[in-house]
Amino acid sequence: GAVPVLAIDGPTASGKGTLATELAERLGYHLLDSGALYRATALAAKDAGIALDDGPALAAMAANLDLRFTGHDVFLNGREITHPLRLESTGGMASQVSVHPEVRQALHALQLGFRRAPGLVADGRDMGTVVFPDAPLKVFLTASAEQRAARRYRQLIEKGNSANIDSLRIDLEARDARDKNRAVAPLKPAEDAELLDNSQLSIEDSVVQVLNWWQQRQ
Ligand code: C5P
Repeated sequence: GAVPVLAIDGPTASGKGTLATELAERLGYHLLDSGALYRATALAAKDAGIALDDGPALAAMAANLDLRFTGHDVFLNGREITHPLRLESTGGMASQVSVHPEVRQALHALQLGFRRAPGLVADGRDMGTVVFPDAPLKVFLTASAEQRAARRYRQLIEKGNSANIDSLRIDLEARDARDKNRAVAPLKPAEDAELLDNSQLSIEDSVVQVLNWWQQRQ
């Protein structure tokens, strides 16, 4: 049969990245952080002086992204972008880039290429709805806006960045609103998604819950 995909979608800072990384490690599967592709496209656009509202120019560039993931470092056109990739400002630009259907189309084939044996854990906004609609397990991960802002704040501070929790919350709610309201591939649970609110759960609790669902499907 097809290579199995475990799809994890949800709003900004809901813990998708942490959960997906942990699951991929425990299952021995490949990992697709699809947000990184939109973020890299935004950074490449900035370098090339392409406006974030120029869909066709952005798509032409996205189709030719020279993006390499080596361990936990990421390279764009030979330059290391590990740090700028994770900046909150880059997430905001990625959200603007990702509204263009042409850009989503250009990144579609790239994402399908991550589906290799023995399996794939993919996280993003439309993994279960658009990119891997045949995934045997689709998880829609949520947490309160308050929790999400607090987590993102801690992440940024731990990495030595400065941050303001109130402006973080405003920014992430604005980004979620844009992601939910766009015409193409909006953020929403697939009809057959399992909903997981991790506001009160530890990372381990969430991992165990998802692994249970995964085993039920084998
Ligand atoms: O998940 P992350 O914060 O890295 O994603 C950055 C932005 O990229 C999101 O806010 C969203 O607009 C876009 N994105 C998307 N579809 C995905 C993954 C990310 O539109 N599958």
